[in-house]
Amino acid sequence: MRMYDLIMKKKHGEVLTEQEIQFMIDGYVKGEIPDYQMSAMLMAIWFKGMNDLEITELTKTMAKSGDMIDLSAISGKKVDKHSTGGVGDKTTLIVAPIVAACGGKVAKMSGRGLGHTGGTVDKLEAIPGYRTVLDRKEFFDTVNKCGVSVIGQSGNLAPADKKLYALRDVTATVDSIPLIASSIMSKKLAAGSDCILLDVKTGSGAFMKTLDDSIKLAQTMVAIGEGAGRRTVALITDMDTPLGFGIGNSIEVMESMDVLKGHGPADLTEVSLQLAANMLYLVGKGTPEECREMAEKVIADGSAFETFCTMVKAQGGDDAVLRDYDKFAKAPYKADVLAERDGYIVKMNAEEVGVTSVVLGAGRETKESSIDFSAGLMLHKKYGDKVKKGESLVTLYTSREDALKEAERMYREAVIIGDEQPAKEPLVYARVEKDKVEKY
Ligand code: URA
Repeated sequence: MRMYDLIMKKKHGEVLTEQEIQFMIDGYVKGEIPDYQMSAMLMAIWFKGMNDLEITELTKTMAKSGDMIDLSAISGKKVDKHSTGGVGDKTTLIVAPIVAACGGKVAKMSGRGLGHTGGTVDKLEAIPGYRTVLDRKEFFDTVNKCGVSVIGQSGNLAPADKKLYALRDVTATVDSIPLIASSIMSKKLAAGSDCILLDVKTGSGAFMKTLDDSIKLAQTMVAIGEGAGRRTVALITDMDTPLGFGIGNSIEVMESMDVLKGHGPADLTEVSLQLAANMLYLVGKGTPEECREMAEKVIADGSAFETFCTMVKAQGGDDAVLRDYDKFAKAPYKADVLAERDGYIVKMNAEEVGVTSVVLGAGRETKESSIDFSAGLMLHKKYGDKVKKGESLVTLYTSREDALKEAERMYREAVIIGDEQPAKEPLVYARVEKDKVEKY
């Protein structure tokens, strides 16, 4: 078999066989197929797509390229959650302890920030002492003891995805349904949970910009999960506007704790409750409505917050910062961006807001960059809000004084103030289950 022939086949929109997909992925992981040939294949897939059988085979082959984790040492049903990536998306920090406090088990391996989107592992590392690398036994023990453990992805989880993702990132081939679906689901299948809840983001800050594409991506991933014997549900949630008010690592930890303490922002609380309710539904705790009530109860009685603190302590973190935010290291420089006119926020480009946070130091400019945990943005006005000339739209935080000017310029470009109040957009657009799409 020759990679050249497979590229030619896909270029003409033909279907690749199981053996061809295995040959291509195995050869690429072993270094026998060079990046330039795989780049051509990725671009051919981007243009010509793949059918469901090809996507399933690609996902399975990528999952099996590394460890397939056996979670049977953890008692009870395990549920995983994955977001396709967003700005200000800190829901894992909220839903994982909620689900654990309600009796579900969450053994979660999370990723780092990618491009303009933040990553859970970076946020958790903003908690002093928190270890995101645990060996298998400690990971399992922590879930058995606390109901939840969130760690970084182990080096050998779907290594084919790691290599392919890095190549897609630099060849403009990230935003392809077969490639995103196989990337995400290969990691989820390898990570071993019984059930999977997918949060498919839609809008300007998401990889999928339209609702139709987001639903198609969700259906593709749900079909892969169910086909592999994992109960899988997807929610399509808004990422036209950042979620919550805080963007940045320690800022997002604080805002997540606000939700767990019962006084978080309304949008973040609502999306988190719907995600948590669906995770509890997947592990058999009741109907989605009953599960939502359970989730609300563990916020109200403080047990979800205490569950998060217990996990943090078990992983070496200092939970004092979660109880008293003044204990977090503070950014030495800050600046407010003031409204230049009266009106309403009629547009907020979430991707550009995410890039602004990277410029401030909250994300990585290159793979090697280090993160400034204290950097980020605190929004004061969001999409649809009324603003008065001179009012602060956002406070920028950074350790790099010279970044403030550029960040202010970018933020001004991301946000448009107009005359008419725009119509509200839904927070959750749709729910996708096997063979079923409910639009809200
Ligand atoms: N997240 C992933 O893990 N993979 C993608 O391709 C996109 C988002």
